[in-house]
Amino acid sequence: MIVYFNREYLPLDEVKISPYDRGFHYADGVYETLRTYNGKLFRFESHIKRLNFSLDELNIGFNNLNDFEFISLKLAEINKILPKDFSVYIQITRGVQFPRKHNYEKNIIPTIFVSVSRLNDNSEQLEKGVKVILQEDIRWTRCDIKSISILPSILAKTRAVNQDAYEAIFYRDGKITEGSHTNFFAVKDSVVYTAPLSNFILEGITREVVLELCNEKKIPVVEDYIQVEQLKSYDEFFITGTTTEVTPIVKIDDSIVGNGLPGKVTRLIQKYFREYVNST
Ligand code: PDD
Repeated sequence: MIVYFNREYLPLDEVKISPYDRGFHYADGVYETLRTYNGKLFRFESHIKRLNFSLDELNIGFNNLNDFEFISLKLAEINKILPKDFSVYIQITRGVQFPRKHNYEKNIIPTIFVSVSRLNDNSEQLEKGVKVILQEDIRWTRCDIKSISILPSILAKTRAVNQDAYEAIFYRDGKITEGSHTNFFAVKDSVVYTAPLSNFILEGITREVVLELCNEKKIPVVEDYIQVEQLKSYDEFFITGTTTEVTPIVKIDDSIVGNGLPGKVTRLIQKYFREYVNST
């Protein structure tokens, strides 16, 4: 497998990362996950804008973000993944600083890593829906930054997988924020609900596309918090994310949602989403 590391295309086992990299010591860095549809990076500009925002918020100076399009496609070509679609992982850490100390210095050169992977077949989960579990949101209050410091999400996702669930859905003060790596939606009387943008959630790009599609197709949307206590009053649930796409939720903890099958509004949004990505 060939990856991109600090301006070079290298076999994975030739990558050398210093233990003094601040990413290794402090998770001092940011990341993005993208994917292609029909060979084209989906919403590349939105991902770059979000990456730029994360870098700015953490005061990490790195500018050549547009190069990631070329790098991703080149990696897919070298690794012989094309013409199949693939996912891209981009990680930028603040860089190496010796000796170890908490405060960062100016002018450290960021460490850049990019890898591409084949996409897993998610057709069964899209078709049948998934189980999720509820989990208290113990993350920091800057979830709008796509930082690599995601230990609470890692613990929550692992707990979910250990309970045969696909995702852990976070709540803070009784309100649902988002999933550990997805955004969360509910449907009641054909109205779609999702948490509003704030520092408590990541501005998901799939979320944005779904909201655009709802707007275009005249499906009403309310960007307001869903209360955990009122979950039972909703008809349908789904989650969105770059590799999760629009995945129906059919079970929350031990409670089956409705009749245990994906809801009809969810199905409609899945259909609009599929048509949209196929047309890009
Ligand atoms: N996760 N919320 C969180 C906390 C996320 O980490 C993600 C993305 C999303 C969905 O965002 P998008 O639609 O832009 O993928 C929401 C990526 C896929 C990851 O962790 O690899």
